Amino acid sequence: MSTTELTRFWHPICTSQEVTEAPKRFALLDDDVVLFRDERGAAALRDLCIHRGAALSLGRIRDGKLVCPYHGWQFDRDGACVRIPSRPESSPIPSSARATAFRAVEKYGLVWVCMGEPLAEIPEFPGEVVGQPGWHSFISYREIWNTSAARAVENFMDFSHFAYVHTGILGSEDTSEIEPYAVEQLDDGLRYSLEQVEPSDLYGADGTQLVRYEYTLVVPFTIHLKKIEVGTGRETIISQLTLPRSPKTTELFVFIVRNHSLDELDSKFGDFTNMIMEQDRPVVESQRPEELPLSLREELHIKVPDAASLLYRQRLASLAKVEAFGSYGA
Ligand code: FES
Ligand SMILES: [Fe+2]
Repeated sequence: MSTTELTRFWHPICTSQEVTEAPKRFALLDDDVVLFRDERGAAALRDLCIHRGAALSLGRIRDGKLVCPYHGWQFDRDGACVRIPSRPESSPIPSSARATAFRAVEKYGLVWVCMGEPLAEIPEFPGEVVGQPGWHSFISYREIWNTSAARAVENFMDFSHFAYVHTGILGSEDTSEIEPYAVEQLDDGLRYSLEQVEPSDLYGADGTQLVRYEYTLVVPFTIHLKKIEVGTGRETIISQLTLPRSPKTTELFVFIVRNHSLDELDSKFGDFTNMIMEQDRPVVESQRPEELPLSLREELHIKVPDAASLLYRQRLASLAKVEAFGSYGA
């Protein structure tokens, strides 16, 4: 998948609180983006001054304009240079004096950036429950992993590693066999489900609970896991919103959304999820190549347990129309 396709999706870049009047640099698709806030909300530009290549994020905002730190050229939120202070105020400004502006939108407490013409909406949570009465959401885990976004998503999709990476928590070696399961193709992704006993003290007095797992993948890099406790009506959605900083560096925002235990501390749920993520991390960071091979001729696929990840690779490949994923250099 080349830059061209990925630039046409919305990516979660930071939390809303992190975008202030002071310009700040963020990484997206092997590029640098400067974000700042004005009365219209979050604004995003490529963090590069057309004059001599300085980082605009080292500058400041004056009268709503982003002032380059080097020679003080002023850019508006749409990227137009509106003042070159080394020239008389009356002299014309070349139309090519521009910074590249990107779309920026705030949703779910995050700032999302799309570097091109959007191919899709910002991914929704299953049932659109975030912010609804009776539901509570928080960001539980946010870390940068040394891997590609697609490897990190495929890991989150994959439950056949539970018996090994999460032994005694999400599985055990005597329950490692995976029953056949159906994967539904959606316009924007995949959906599949299974039932699983969680030997966790998060559930019930005896410490186990039968849980229905419903996975919803939204291409390219959003994966939701809805856990429905069978017989209790309690639902918890664990969602990984995945930021491709570079082909081999990925930031994960993991949300937990629940309709139960609203008077309990978030950490009761967050600590468990974060521990699971940290168990995954060293294994995923060890995978080579870091970028997910999209040709099904690479790596070795096992029919039943790898069904969902096979389709994920195919979906990314058809999006990319190329076999190698991750060459961001456009
Ligand atoms: S490098 Fe930005 S004004 Fe000169
Ligand atoms: Fe895992």
